Amino acid sequence: MAEVVITSKEEAARLTADLFERLVREKPNAVFGVATGSTPEGVYRELAARRAQHLLADFSRVRAFALDEYVGLPVEHPESYHSVIERQWTRPLGLHPEQVAVPPAVITADDNPESYETRIDAAGGIDIQLVGIGSNGHIGFNEPGSSLASRTRLKTLSRQTRIDNARFFGTLDEVPRYCVTQGLGTILEARRIVLLAFGVSKARALANALEGPVTSSVPASVVQFHPHVTALVDDAAASLLANQDYYREAWQERPPSRRILFDGITLTAPPRRRGF
Ligand code: GLP
Repeated sequence: MAEVVITSKEEAARLTADLFERLVREKPNAVFGVATGSTPEGVYRELAARRAQHLLADFSRVRAFALDEYVGLPVEHPESYHSVIERQWTRPLGLHPEQVAVPPAVITADDNPESYETRIDAAGGIDIQLVGIGSNGHIGFNEPGSSLASRTRLKTLSRQTRIDNARFFGTLDEVPRYCVTQGLGTILEARRIVLLAFGVSKARALANALEGPVTSSVPASVVQFHPHVTALVDDAAASLLANQDYYREAWQERPPSRRILFDGITLTAPPRRRGF
């Protein structure tokens, strides 16, 4: 069961940034899995603000891997995830582009998207994977029906996801139809997963993911197989969680060694084995 923290969006961003900083202090060359979409923006803004005030831990050696990318969009397009990650993560943190990898935006018949995972493995695996959740229960771009053991691959976006993401583009037609995404099996190999969800539009998907059966129809439900998942969610996203009273109480009454998120827990650990 995931640890569920019901709090404000702002506090969720601060807690996640605290966690990232703690990992970097423990492991200066930490490897982050970074997500896109509107959900993680507050975390990235918080880290950037701390850096601007010279308050941030030394992130100069961190590496990062993005979860997914549109296929068929030029990488220079402002909404390609190459551009978004560069704008929200790489540049504000003062990182060299080589420290940050994004799945390829062009796939030819000879390409094997799974080779992206060789780079993740070579970096020692992902220490903390940040994920949002789609209104249809996707994580990364693993649409409903994705194998729970899936690897990084080319996928077709669902109509719902394209409608949801049309707000970043001019019209629905401009939203790409294909993507490359880390698979659900890939995501499960991260040492820790931090899932963020804000707003009532995520309430149903979140409740299904955290409290429903594990099923490929709700790809995010695969996180129930991971031993170290923390979900930071606001009241609206939590509104359909059956156990929300318990989560609030467990967070309020957490043991003294855990007054700070993940305090008392070693963040660095051996790589997780492949699969589950
Ligand atoms: C996007 C991304 C996901 C993201 C999700 C929710 O399409 N591929 O990584 O978590 O859908 O998006 P948002 O955070 O904008 O609600």
